[in-house]
This record gives sequence, C-alpha cells and structure tokens, in this order.
Amino acid sequence: MSLVEIAGLEKGYRVGEIDVPVLKGIDLGIDEGEFVALMGPSGCGKSTLMNILGCLDRPSKGRVLLKGQDLSHLSDRNLARIRRDEIGFVFQSFNLIGRMSNLKNVELPMTLKETARGIRRDRARELLESVGLAHRLDYSPSNLSGGERQRVAIARALANDPSIILADEPTGNLDEKSTNEIMDIMYQLNKEGHTIIMVTHDIETTKHCSRVVWMRDGLVQEVTS
Ligand SMILES: Nc1ncnc2c1ncn2[C@@H]1O[C@H](COP(=O)(O)OP(=O)(O)OP(=O)(O)O)[C@@H](O)[C@H]1O
Ligand SMILES: [Mg+2]
Repeated sequence: MSLVEIAGLEKGYRVGEIDVPVLKGIDLGIDEGEFVALMGPSGCGKSTLMNILGCLDRPSKGRVLLKGQDLSHLSDRNLARIRRDEIGFVFQSFNLIGRMSNLKNVELPMTLKETARGIRRDRARELLESVGLAHRLDYSPSNLSGGERQRVAIARALANDPSIILADEPTGNLDEKSTNEIMDIMYQLNKEGHTIIMVTHDIETTKHCSRVVWMRDGLVQEVTS
C-alpha cells in the first residue's frame, strides 16, 4: 500500500453563484521514502492539492488516503490531529511567528501535542542544530535571512516526526545560494528516509527527486522519473 493514495480527487470553489472547478480528477500514489516534485503552470492547482494533502482543506469529491486513512470524511478535530501528528508543512513565505524565538517556533507543534517541556526544548534545539542554526536559537525569525527562516520552518515541520513533508515552493522567495542550501537539507532529509512532496517552478531543484509529477489545468498530465 502506498503512503498516499489519491483517487478521483476533485476540488471546486464556489465564488458567488459560480462553481469553479480547480482539481478535476487526480489519481496519484506516493510511496514511503519518495521525493516527489510537483510542477506545472501557475493556477493549475498545485497548492490546492498540497493543502488537501496537508489537511488544510477538504476534497469536493474522490478519495485521499494517508497511511490507509481516508482524509475526506474526517471530523475537523481528527483532521487537525492528523495535520499535527503526520504532516510537516513548509511554506514559500515561511509562516513563522516573528515575535517568538526560533526555539519557541520549533517547539510550537510539540506544545500543541502537549509534549513535556524539557523534551520539546531538547528536541527543538537538536532540530535547529541539524539545520545549522545552533547559534541562532534565541533569535527570532524577524532577525534572520530568508534562507535561515526557511531552515527554522523545516525544523518546525520535523518537530512531531511527521510521516510526510509537504513543501510548497520552499525556495520560491530565496536567492540561488539559499536555494541550494535548502535543497541540500531537503535531499539529506529524504536520504534519511523522509517522504517529501515539493512544489517548485525551478527544474534545477528537482535533480534529486525520484519523480516529477506535471500538472496542467487541474489534472496530472505526465509523471517523469
Ligand atoms: N479559496 C479559493 N477560492 C476560489 N478560487 C480559488 C481558491 N483557492 C484557489 N483558487 C483558484 O484555484 C486555482 C488554482 O490555484 P492554486 O493556488 O492551487 O494554483 P497553483 O498551481 O498553486 O499556482 P502557483 O504556481 O501560482 O502557486 C486558481 O485559479 C485559483 O484562483
Ligand atoms: Mg501555489
């Protein structure tokens, strides 16, 4: 069984009186340990798909299974639990809390899980060290470069040891040097066994990916290895 199984996934939004179809029947399986890139023109539905996989939004039709569990019929509470425990989300715009220390930002998902204070403090420190930020524990994200912020966001995504890392254009706001640093970390995480789905517009960043899924107008157009 795949880690993620998507079958007949459709998503539409109601805008005023009109139903706007965005995802029009996606079928896709993703195995544990894969590093999948998701590419395609702006507006084709990549973020919509990522948000559904990340339990931030719900399908209109079809099935999305994560570890065999169907995300489409879960209560809000169960969806939030899966988001907290199974998903590590990395956003293009970092989505960190600017006035909290990096340490606290990384602790936050563990705080939500009611992990004991000492354990979460130690783990947050280890995670920040692992992304090269041992010297920035007490800084806040507002005092960091974009590349450093994204490293904090990656550490936060790993906090609750998720089954899958979803990264929506993680290098979209970064210069070339920071992009390479972030991609090195992503590649390393994948080598350590993490399953990753990453949206990107930059073909260069897909060189370590196991597959590239090309989307177009709400459908998977092609999958290349
Ligand atoms: N909440 C919403 N309500 C209405 N339409 C939406 C909503 N969210 C997304 N859309 C529409 O769905 C389509 C796909 O959006 P999506 O953000 O998934 O594209 P994308 O492939 O991620 O594009 P980009 O590469 O620019 O990030 C767009 O036409 C967008 O306007
Ligand atoms: Mg997008």
